[in-house]
Amino acid sequence: MSTARRLQPFGTTIFAEMTRLAQEHDAVNLSQGFPDEDGPEIIRRTAAEAALAGPNQYAPLPGLPELRAEIARVFEAASGLPTDANAHVTVTSGCTEAIAASMIGLLNPGDRIVLFEPYYDSYRAAVAMADAVPVFVTLRAPDFTFDEAELRRACEGARAILVNTPHNPTGHVYGREELSLIAELCQQHDMIALTDEVYEHLVFDCEHHRLSTWPGMSERTVTMSSLGKTYSLTGWKVGWVVASPELTRGVRSAHQFLTFSVPTPLQHGAVAALQLPPSYYNEFRSSFRARRDLLTEGLLDLGFRVKPSEGTYFLLADHTPFGFADDRTFCEHITRELGVAAIPPSVFYENREHGHPLVRFAFCKSEATLSEALRRLRGLIG
Ligand SMILES: Cc1ncc(COP(=O)(O)O)c(C=O)c1O
Repeated sequence: MSTARRLQPFGTTIFAEMTRLAQEHDAVNLSQGFPDEDGPEIIRRTAAEAALAGPNQYAPLPGLPELRAEIARVFEAASGLPTDANAHVTVTSGCTEAIAASMIGLLNPGDRIVLFEPYYDSYRAAVAMADAVPVFVTLRAPDFTFDEAELRRACEGARAILVNTPHNPTGHVYGREELSLIAELCQQHDMIALTDEVYEHLVFDCEHHRLSTWPGMSERTVTMSSLGKTYSLTGWKVGWVVASPELTRGVRSAHQFLTFSVPTPLQHGAVAALQLPPSYYNEFRSSFRARRDLLTEGLLDLGFRVKPSEGTYFLLADHTPFGFADDRTFCEHITRELGVAAIPPSVFYENREHGHPLVRFAFCKSEATLSEALRRLRGLIG
């Protein structure tokens, strides 16, 4: 009796592994992407009150009508695309389930899907669960953009492409030119696009663009997002999918058997989240920009090579000035010897050597935590 072959290659996620190592060494944990403060009280209070008042029974399969209405309102305002709560919106158990439900519900066994590497680790496993075939295109340092010819080749014969913008772990925000090419290729090869936009509100000094708004793309794009990052509630796992009625049918056909529905009180809390005023997002962004700057400047000062993150709450730094063999050796050293945990990004690459010079730091921590991490990292320079 053992793990099914399709999941054997993935083992335990690197996040669990690094968090355990961080705990063993009492390290400042800049590995996993969760903030050290919980999101707005109004959201949590609304969910708590909904749990106390009840009913606490199954929500409808596509999500509470009030929440879907809010998602549709917000999406329509941001994209300018007419969005119908019943036909276009599905509430899922975090973006993770949205990704799995979209792949399982929309891809046939053997279908090819283009993934950019480095990639968020659930993509690869979700492709395997859908019995689909991944085709990889590398985002190359230092700008973490792709090569046009490589992307064109990868799209030949593909059924789908997954675009994560803002991008974890590189902090790259896809620009207009990149998305225009992706949109062109989707139409040329009749592909669907899955977009993971969980960091849509975490963009610094640039704009977040939605692939679904490109001409001809709304009908073939599955837009996915969630509450976790935007409202610092990563433990809630409330996410959503916005897609054409036809694609929505496919997504729901998988969602109904993966989770059926999402915890009812949390969906009430999510309504309160989506009703927060614009000032919330401005303050949220500027507080993360300050943390990004603190960590970026501190790392540059220590001798790392860093390109400031354009979005998300991660940055990739080049650790090679310190002379370690690869990213894993580097991360183990700084966790065990200096008490700072980070992620070795080669696990997010199919071609692992691309990740060897790099280290991923999360900056979704308090300024005191980031300053302490930087103080400890001074051990790298004696
Ligand atoms: C790119 C990306 N997509 C999806 C997720 C997961 O989102 P959720 O917690 O809503 O499932 C994460 C979490 O780290 C992420 O970084």
